[in-house]
Amino acid sequence: MTIQKLPFLALTCFLGALASAQGSPPRCLNTLAYYNPTLRTGCFNATWFILRVPKTAVQSIVPSDYPLITPPESLFPNGFPADSHPVVVNCGYMNDIRQGPLQIQALMGAGINVPYVDRLRDGKTPFNYPCRTFIGGVNGKDISAVVPALVGSTQGNSILVASFSPNDGPYAALASSPNEFEAQVRQVILPNPISGPGIVPAAFDLDFTSASPAQYAEDTFRALINQPTILTNTKCQRNTYYFNQTFRESVMRTGDATLYGPARMGAVPAELDNRYVEQGGYSASSVMVGFNAEDCASAGANVDPNA
Ligand SMILES: *[C@@H]1O[C@H](CO)[C@@H](O)[C@H](O)[C@H]1NC(C)=O
Ligand SMILES: *[C@@H]1O[C@H](CO)[C@@H](O)[C@H](O)[C@H]1NC(C)=O
Repeated sequence: MTIQKLPFLALTCFLGALASAQGSPPRCLNTLAYYNPTLRTGCFNATWFILRVPKTAVQSIVPSDYPLITPPESLFPNGFPADSHPVVVNCGYMNDIRQGPLQIQALMGAGINVPYVDRLRDGKTPFNYPCRTFIGGVNGKDISAVVPALVGSTQGNSILVASFSPNDGPYAALASSPNEFEAQVRQVILPNPISGPGIVPAAFDLDFTSASPAQYAEDTFRALINQPTILTNTKCQRNTYYFNQTFRESVMRTGDATLYGPARMGAVPAELDNRYVEQGGYSASSVMVGFNAEDCASAGANVDPNA
């Protein structure tokens, strides 16, 4: 410790005390970085929706080598339409992303995933097939997401750069209706901050309120979210989301998800283009531990049952 650093430390302590004295908003804390110093970790404050999508449409966006597995009835005690398969869309704010000495203060993240995909063709081990994965910068800094997006692509994830609304939190209340929330994701194809707007086709919008009663249990969301992801390089990856923190503030939701396909100049596959109304959702803060890519059989066998 050099003497020159002391005034700086004193100042940050003072500002920290001032912020908490004024009642700073709740923060999504990366409480698992300390225990997983070599892995990617972050705190994800997000909303997940389970969409009921016709099975034929879902199978057409998943590689035909991988059949769909029917989800266990125990997760859907009120039933799930027999001709449909769940598709999970999520959108949120990822805070304090760390891996060893690297840190990204915050990113926006969203995805469209198909759970219960039979990657091992054993008829039972469920995997997530990532149909679309988007990341974007916070506070209007779209371009800041380009570098992490490229890093992800080289590791077997194809990650697309997107702009988010809002981009300083997971969702925003409508001015006209404070108990109704919205989040929008648009893929950035040609960012053009200097001479005008770029091409930013819509991916999806979420529009929701709190649900009572909930359509699905929290455990159902966790079971779907925590299935290992199928990568493009023959490997798989566990991104485990823990919802056991005191600040998780989980709320069950009901609402509409609008997915925009090419006919609407959108960025999602035509087979998913639809307004899915009155679907079941879940908003919560979770702490994510992202493991390195591994053999799919071991990823499937090592899913943490406590997540
Ligand atoms: C998560 O985001 C919502 C919406 O902005 C906010 O109300 C909540 O306090 C946030 N939670 C945390 C832990 O940051
Ligand atoms: C949450 O679960 C993780 C993984 O099992 C564990 O390391 C952590 O201590 C748990 N946190 C709390 C607050 O229970």
